[in-house]
Amino acid sequence: MSMNLRTLVIASGNPGKVREFEGLLSGLPLTVKAQPDGLEIEETGSTFSANARIKAIAVAAATGDWALADDSGLSVDALDGAPGVHSARYAASDPERIARLLKALDAEDNRSARFCAALCVAAPDGSVLLEVEGHCKGSIIRTPRGNQGFGYDPIFEVDGTEKTFAQMSLKEKKAHGHRGRAFSLLEPPLRQLLSQR
Ligand code: IMP
Repeated sequence: MSMNLRTLVIASGNPGKVREFEGLLSGLPLTVKAQPDGLEIEETGSTFSANARIKAIAVAAATGDWALADDSGLSVDALDGAPGVHSARYAASDPERIARLLKALDAEDNRSARFCAALCVAAPDGSVLLEVEGHCKGSIIRTPRGNQGFGYDPIFEVDGTEKTFAQMSLKEKKAHGHRGRAFSLLEPPLRQLLSQR
């Protein structure tokens, strides 16, 4: 095993996401770090992948290390894809975001939705090393269930499982979830890149 592992900074200030990524990346020859405190990056893109790129490039430039960014969110069919790239800003807190979404769908029978995660790995010189996107289909239930995870997890039931994300262990969420799927697309080429140094 090399003594000189490459550092990968997780470009996210969200502790829930950093924890998920630490688990996902634990099998790779990497030193994983959280991004430094106080780094604020404006997400000005109109797609998940544009925002992932913006964050990865900014954090790699700021830290001098490779950075992995994700941009993710929930797109609800009956709301024309909302909250989408605005998922984090849909209301002030997780419970308020859930309440707003349930209210918006109150009279709606079409509950189908999907989570999307775009991942980008960038280098300090601004180059994009890898980009992928993963999805997870499900539906918005009327009454929250489960207490694991974060964000919209308690109201998102994953198709084919009868469980919400908040009722899944990290391992199950990795298998079914949008970030886990995106990650399984990212892992082989990332491993390849790491072996090339
Ligand atoms: P981002 O930090 O800009 O990617 O914002 C993503 C937002 O989408 C989060 O703050 C959550 O509100 C929501 N989100 C993304 N992934 C998940 C997930 O796995 N479970 C629940 N909510 C999620």
